[in-house]
Amino acid sequence: ENDILGKLPLRGKKILITAGPTYEAIDPVRFIGNHSSGKMGFEIAKRAANLGAEVILVTGQTSQNVSHVLIKVIPVVSGQDMYNAVHDYFESSDVAILAAAVADYKPKEVALEKIKKHNASLTLELEKTKDILASLGAIKKQQYLVGFALETHDEIENAKGKLKRKNLNLIVLNSLNDKGAGFKGDTNKVTFIDDENKITAFELKSKAEVASDLLNKIISHI
Ligand code: CTP
Ligand code: CA
Repeated sequence: ENDILGKLPLRGKKILITAGPTYEAIDPVRFIGNHSSGKMGFEIAKRAANLGAEVILVTGQTSQNVSHVLIKVIPVVSGQDMYNAVHDYFESSDVAILAAAVADYKPKEVALEKIKKHNASLTLELEKTKDILASLGAIKKQQYLVGFALETHDEIENAKGKLKRKNLNLIVLNSLNDKGAGFKGDTNKVTFIDDENKITAFELKSKAEVASDLLNKIISHI
């Protein structure tokens, strides 16, 4: 698999990528998670490496596998773990692409012992997790910063809001409206919105093809 120009346009570039879900502990044996497969982030990592980039792939727990000399995989569990790993590598990165489905809330307290079913009902108090993407937008210098947005209504407006609020260069809007699109399957229907307000809508495609479109877009801007 080679790039369209027959050379390696990302050689020497360092790309930080997040993928997969985060798991937020409730007690020693339970967690709050989500159905993210991690596939989108892994496809971006593979494509970037095939274009010559040095890739750091920070991933939550998935069934994805990758083995490539240019990809260093950093497995994490919680959003806080992902935040720490991402901050270890961001400063030295040229590009950061945050495709992970980070939990928005986590249990305020983690029970030290397995919670017993003593009561008829159980209430968990949740608190917000740190927004990893926004934290990078707040400190970014030369880095080209890319986020994803999953929206079900007012998609373009909401995605534009995230682009601005989080100080991104590009946001990839994921449409859940069409059959086959979404974070569980093998296909995605995306729209790119960049910091010059350029909007590009794509057809339903495989996640590998979406990864290729995304890296072509990034290559044209760095
Ligand atoms: N993201 C992150 N850290 C979080 C939550 C989200 O880095 N704690 C990143 C995701 O990886 C994605 C982007 O932020 O690149 C947008 O995620 P999304 O869930 O669409 O938006 P939120 O900002 O979390 O807002 P909401 O879920 O309320 O729409
Ligand atoms: Ca969210």
